[in-house]
Amino acid sequence: MTAVLSSPVASPFVPGYIPALADVVGADERVPLLDGSSVRYANFDYAASAPALRSVADRLLDALPQYASVHRGAGALSQITTHRYEQARERIRRFVRARADDHVVFTRNTTDSINLLAHCLGKRGDVVVLDIEHHANLLPWQCLSGTRLVTACSTVEDTLAALDAELASNPAALLAITAASNVTGEVLPISRLASIAHRHGARILVDAAQLVAHQPISVVSHGIDYLVFSGHKLYAPFGAGVLVGRGDWLDGASPYLAGGGASAEVASGGTVQWHTGPARHEAGSPNVLGAVSIADACESLSVIGFEAIGYHEHTLRERLDAGLAAIDGVRPLRIFSDSTGRVGIAGFAVDGLSARTVACYLSDHHGIGVRDGRFCAHPLLTRLGYPDGAVRASFGLGTAADDIDRLLNALSELVSRRDTARVKESLG
Ligand code: ALA
Repeated sequence: MTAVLSSPVASPFVPGYIPALADVVGADERVPLLDGSSVRYANFDYAASAPALRSVADRLLDALPQYASVHRGAGALSQITTHRYEQARERIRRFVRARADDHVVFTRNTTDSINLLAHCLGKRGDVVVLDIEHHANLLPWQCLSGTRLVTACSTVEDTLAALDAELASNPAALLAITAASNVTGEVLPISRLASIAHRHGARILVDAAQLVAHQPISVVSHGIDYLVFSGHKLYAPFGAGVLVGRGDWLDGASPYLAGGGASAEVASGGTVQWHTGPARHEAGSPNVLGAVSIADACESLSVIGFEAIGYHEHTLRERLDAGLAAIDGVRPLRIFSDSTGRVGIAGFAVDGLSARTVACYLSDHHGIGVRDGRFCAHPLLTRLGYPDGAVRASFGLGTAADDIDRLLNALSELVSRRDTARVKESLG
């Protein structure tokens, strides 16, 4: 806890009516403040873990009495649970518009999905990645010998040209790239990246962890070979992730986890015949509730509709961007000068204050939860000029205009008292 300040300054922001678009669990949760009072929590950490959609939680509670083993029992509940688990793959396949023969493999999260594909790559060739990636899409590749890091340029156009040149000069097996930055929310043009990769004989892995809850994605129309994302950023709790993509590399690799469920036949002499398909990489009892909740969340988002989601987030984003721009000394983070699309993520720094001080102040005095630090994207934060970290406000379906205004007012208040806050900061 840092920066103990009191008595609010006058608000320059006028609240307007933009309601939350969907009911999320915990929307009315109150949290304590330093002065002993409490306030409704304003959650600006959706990009780390979004709250569960009420519809997802309700459906899971309905399913819970029938929860039983998967693929392991003849009993009625076991059959029902197995059916739900397998159906979850098909519901997710439909949501991301994957090919009929793509594998839909359940994993622990996006990081696990990418590590799984890295495991399956074998000696097929090099991997090309940008230096703006989350560590989840950087470190699994850096562990392999044939990984080439391309420095992103200051524009999307130049970055695409740099990737094109890299792949043209030296073939690679895979281009592994984020769909939306977890630091700035900027969205990359996936179809064009897929065309570049394919033109040079490479496949493309798209890390859609930060995109899939915000914009529609189509494996087929975007030309994606492998798509990965997590439930916990998609309003689905319980910790599961997905890898959707072409089966040949997955079936050609040894199982990611060795054990029951992945094995079709184990001879007494030790010879093992492994399954192909998703089961090959899903040994052990799976996270069935996590998997089903992802499918439930996908369907809830489809019902709400991406047009409505896009409009809601765009409206909030404009309000937040305008408000941040009006506060003296607040510096928004941006990678590309020409990026057009963004999801509900705003990375920023405040002149003269550490990111930790800002985040603690927002929490201690206003009950606002943001993330501070380097967001598991250390190389990117360094190249953006914030090697010690920045602040990130991220939002989604449960966010209302009132929350944005609370954040802006709290930041204005902090900035107006920056000198006091710095003294407190220096005193620790
Ligand atoms: N990957 C998550 C984030 O960016 C945890 O915060």
